[in-house]
Amino acid sequence: MTLAPVIAIDGPTASGKGTVASLVAEKLGFHYLDSGALYRLVALASEKEGIDVKNGPELGFLVPKLLISFEKGQILLNGEDATESIRTEAIGLRASALAAHPEVRRALVGLQRGFRKAPGLVADGRDMASVIFPDAVLKVFLTATAAARAERRYKQLIAKGIPAKLDDLLRDLQERDARDSSRGTAPLLVAEGAQVLETSDLSIDQAVKTVLDWYQSKIA
Ligand code: C5P
Repeated sequence: MTLAPVIAIDGPTASGKGTVASLVAEKLGFHYLDSGALYRLVALASEKEGIDVKNGPELGFLVPKLLISFEKGQILLNGEDATESIRTEAIGLRASALAAHPEVRRALVGLQRGFRKAPGLVADGRDMASVIFPDAVLKVFLTATAAARAERRYKQLIAKGIPAKLDDLLRDLQERDARDSSRGTAPLLVAEGAQVLETSDLSIDQAVKTVLDWYQSKIA
């Protein structure tokens, strides 16, 4: 049995990889995995349970107990809508902290690989190409300067009516980048064989088109 093809899109926080990955998936009729959402769900659930973010083993035990489902643009955690509540900066920082534990990362491997189904999958995260889907047909490292990313995040939040400060966002983002890049387990890196896509000066459409072109040339 041949496994469904995977396009792995990794990159730093607020690089636009989620937007690009979901649009590429839509164009190709592929499934989509937002792996960051899984880390964010663990952050939300563990906060509710009062588990210390430093306690790797206990966080790892929590993962298989969680009931997670993605349905029509909604993310459900134990039957409750968590779509919006996982998107706060505080949950993002907590997710980044707990993602450094090998116990948490290991516990999420099977869940992530389970998203690989016909006709194909577009998966975005930090270690999609290096750890979860090393046999991905196309590996993309999507990035942009910290300033461009902070500005994008700022605009997104303001558009949603959420108050935000550009300086604070830039600082949080740099803190998260540093932690994601320096951790011992599955650090954020350009995987072997990955193609780098710098999006600071690209529109979403241009970035999507580039990924689609790269994919076509891989399967041609
Ligand atoms: O992508 P997003 O910002 O939603 O991810 C939240 C956090 O989860 C990241 O800062 C990162 O630490 C972690 N993460 C990870 N590996 C992934 C996806 C996300 O470590 N594949």
